[in-house]
Amino acid sequence: MPKLVVGSFNNKKLVELHDLLGDLGIELVNLSGYPSIKEVDETGTTFVENANLKASQYAKQVNEYVLAEDSGLVVPILNGEPGVFSARYAGTHGDDQANNRKLLERLGDTPDPQREAYYVCVASLAAPNGEIVATTEGRCWGRIVREPRGTGGFGYDPLFEVIEFHKTFGELSLRVKQALSHRARAIVKLRPILVRVFSQSNA
Ligand code: IMP
Repeated sequence: MPKLVVGSFNNKKLVELHDLLGDLGIELVNLSGYPSIKEVDETGTTFVENANLKASQYAKQVNEYVLAEDSGLVVPILNGEPGVFSARYAGTHGDDQANNRKLLERLGDTPDPQREAYYVCVASLAAPNGEIVATTEGRCWGRIVREPRGTGGFGYDPLFEVIEFHKTFGELSLRVKQALSHRARAIVKLRPILVRVFSQSNA
C-alpha cells in the first residue's frame, strides 16, 4: 500500500484524516513513528507559507509524500486576528481558555453582525524531494458569540457559532463539524490530486 505521511504529531488530526481519506487505499501515518524528526517551526506570515514549509521540510526529512496543514481563526473586524497566531494568541501555545478570553476582550461589545469570523485551513502536499505538488484551502464561516457554549471540539469552538444551526462547534457533534469544517473542505479538494499522484506512483 502506498504511504502518505501526515506532517503532524497530533493523533486527533490523523483520526480526522482517516475519516476523510481512509477509502483511498493509502496508508496514513503521522510523525509519531519518526522519533528522530526535527520539528519544523511555523515561521511563515501566512497559512499558505506555513503549510508549504511544513509539507516540504518534513517530506525531505522522511523521504515520502507528506500532507501538512495550517489552520486558524480569522476575524475581519479585528483586522484578521488571531490569524496565523491562533494557537498562541494570548502568549502561550495551545492555551485555549486564555486565547478565548483574549478574543472576547478584543471584541468587547461589538454588535452581532460585525462578529462574523471564519476558520481557514490550508492543506499542502509535498513530494519526497520537498517539491510542493498542490496547495488547497477550505473555509468555514460563523460568528463569535459572547460567552463560551458547549464542550465539544477544541480551540475557539465554544465561541464559534455556525449561524444556520444557531449552535457553536462546541455544541455540535463531531459528525456535523466534520461535514462543515474548514479542514474537511481543504482535504476534500486535495482528494483528486492524491488519487492522481498515488495512481502514478504505483504505475
Ligand atoms: P494548527 O493548525 O494545529 O497549528 O492550529 C492552529 C490553531 O487554530 C489551533 O490551536 C486553534 O486555536 C485554531 N484552530 C484551528 N482549527 C480549529 C478548529 O477546528 N476549531 C477550533 N480552533 C481551531
